[in-house]
Amino acid sequence: MTGLSGAGKSTLAEALHKRLRAAGHASVILDGDELRRGLNAELGFTPEDHTENLRRVAHVAALFRQQGFVAIAAVISPEHRHRQAARVIVGDGFVEVFVNAPLAVCEARDVKELYARARRGEIPDFTGVSRPFEEPVGLDVEIHSDRVSVDDAVEVLFVQLASMNHIGQ
Ligand SMILES: Nc1ncnc2c1ncn2[C@@H]1O[C@H](COP(=O)(O)OP(=O)(O)O)[C@@H](O)[C@H]1O
Ligand SMILES: [Mg+2]
Repeated sequence: MTGLSGAGKSTLAEALHKRLRAAGHASVILDGDELRRGLNAELGFTPEDHTENLRRVAHVAALFRQQGFVAIAAVISPEHRHRQAARVIVGDGFVEVFVNAPLAVCEARDVKELYARARRGEIPDFTGVSRPFEEPVGLDVEIHSDRVSVDDAVEVLFVQLASMNHIGQ
């Protein structure tokens, strides 16, 4: 799942995880923020570190995938090249989900008050404010989280996974 901070990636990842579990499918959430507190703790936000951050997430996802899990990665992933690299690492099972909400909506939600801090100049290179977010071009699914409820979005994702044969019905 790619999208701006506050677009709803973590929320949808959690809800999809629960939905999959209820249907008997094993899944795991790889949340960018969480991974940055552990596995990727030494990485910052330079271009090199961004690349390395997403490379690791993709490899962990690939390992889980190979072992029969649906790996749900919730990462901003603002650049085409990173999503493309992840697609190559994960291979056939890769599904690019664009969790799309307008910047104004994400900023109004400001769940972690990061936009307010970024606008005050306290966070350099903040995606959407002081660093571009490249709109996905190779996406498989788009969720307009400002118009679709969490439950409806999860159903769309679940059906998509089933139709792509990533999970049994
Ligand atoms: N349809 C929706 N899908 C996902 N999140 C939504 C939706 N509608 C409202 N929200 C809210 O938007 C916020 C998204 O925050 P979060 O999931 O942490 O975003 P991200 O992980 O992309 O930074 C949450 O407070 C969530 O409750
Ligand atoms: Mg999140």
